Amino acid sequence: MIDPEIHLDGEGRLDWRDVFGNARPVELELGFGKARFLLAAARSRPGVNFLGVEMSRKWYREGRRRILRDPPANLRVLWAEALDFLARKVPDASLQALHVYHPDPWPKRRHHKRRLLTPAFLAQARRVLAAGGELRVTTDHAAYGALIGALLAGADGFETLPWGETGEALTHFEAKYRREGRAIHRYRTRRREAP
Ligand SMILES: C[S@@+](CC[C@H](N)C(=O)[O-])C[C@H]1O[C@@H](n2cnc3c(N)ncnc32)[C@H](O)[C@@H]1O
Repeated sequence: MIDPEIHLDGEGRLDWRDVFGNARPVELELGFGKARFLLAAARSRPGVNFLGVEMSRKWYREGRRRILRDPPANLRVLWAEALDFLARKVPDASLQALHVYHPDPWPKRRHHKRRLLTPAFLAQARRVLAAGGELRVTTDHAAYGALIGALLAGADGFETLPWGETGEALTHFEAKYRREGRAIHRYRTRRREAP
């Protein structure tokens, strides 16, 4: 059985071929919680490699436990903080997509500095996404959503795309919020080709 867990040994940025054993496209989910998105995406798109990054030890263990029931060969997980991981370990222009679903909104003003979707995050997304690569973000928190929308709208090097069909809930939190009748705010943007 494949253990999906990877560890960061050594200095410098990763080589995705070492991580996955092949040169297929790579997509990252940051803050995967119960791993619902990762499992469905890895199973439905076996030609793509998926890596989930989760900072909470508790949710990391829970997501990995669910994956271990029947681990897809194209799925890996890592216990790490997302922005630090992007900045230190992810090679330039090496990702086909970045997925961030229901990032913690940190509603109190004094906690806003803990939010993941910031200009520093966007700078890393610009660096790590390949031309045509997508950043997809959802949130149920209207005020954080408005900030995310403003951050992404007209961001240098990106073009906004329509979300398209919503279909099944992508994640555990989306399913929960839909049951509660809460609005989900969705953002999709694409890394432009270099001029
Ligand atoms: C509200 S939960 C959403 C989980 C899942 N994406 C979903 O939609 O069901 C936010 C998750 O992101 C994780 N997280 C928050 N900030 C993070 C960061 N900077 N790096 C990695 N994970 C983070 C949290 O530990 C938590 O599991």
